[in-house]
Amino acid sequence: MSAPIGVFDSGYGGLTILKELKKQLPQYDYIYLGDNARAPYGSRSFETVYQYTLEAVNWFFKQGCSLVIIACNTASAKALRNIQQLDLPNMDPGKRVLGVIRPTTEVLGHFSTNHQIGIMGTLGTVQSDSYPIEIAKFFPELQVFQQACPMWVPLIENGEFDKPGADYFVQQYLNELFSQSKGIDAILLACTHYPLLEAKIKSFLPLGVSLVTQGDIVAKSLAKYLENHPELAHKCSQHGLLSFYTTDNADTFEKQGSLFFGQKIEAKHTDLA
Ligand code: DGL
Repeated sequence: MSAPIGVFDSGYGGLTILKELKKQLPQYDYIYLGDNARAPYGSRSFETVYQYTLEAVNWFFKQGCSLVIIACNTASAKALRNIQQLDLPNMDPGKRVLGVIRPTTEVLGHFSTNHQIGIMGTLGTVQSDSYPIEIAKFFPELQVFQQACPMWVPLIENGEFDKPGADYFVQQYLNELFSQSKGIDAILLACTHYPLLEAKIKSFLPLGVSLVTQGDIVAKSLAKYLENHPELAHKCSQHGLLSFYTTDNADTFEKQGSLFFGQKIEAKHTDLA
């Protein structure tokens, strides 16, 4: 039996990834889940993020999904390895759960000529050191400078991303990042929420510094993965359908979510238990 590809985030951020998946792989069906009732995950403990993410993966499996994309850096950093290695073999070894960090680090080195890259993410992502560890495997020559931006997700989730109030925290975190090195010539927005701040970040960015977002990278990587795993691709339904679920209020999700997704969406409430 085939079912949609599951796409998960703590809140709205994963919609910036889903938008690209739909653009590049429009034939597949997708089911999105935002755990808005418990977002943000960024400053939560390893144990909590792991438990929440595992509950979400369980939920997707109950919907019949064979493939789940954790479209959240924080959850990918803190929960994915455990889920892949400890839980999945007992839950259903035929199913797959993929994250956003590995596909990003596989190509990240190509964006910097100076071999100096900035990683801006949540506190959880930065503290996990997942990026420097993974990048070293593919681009050992790349110097990695990390900056936690704990105020960005709350600003975005509350619709303040294009307001003057956001300027202060955008400048502050950029200044802190560049105080580590003036040679950084590319910055990865290592949180799926941050593309909403892209225009504002660009307006404060020093000349010659490029900004990298993950949607395109993750979509290209998934396309390759499905090509290389036809047995899994066959389990993913293909009618071009989309459905959206949130653990919080569906009306609010529809309003806010359409800003992230770039088009009107219809959402339903769900409980994870
Ligand atoms: N969108 C999530 C990420 O990519 C973070 C949001 C949160 O803090 O919950 O890291």
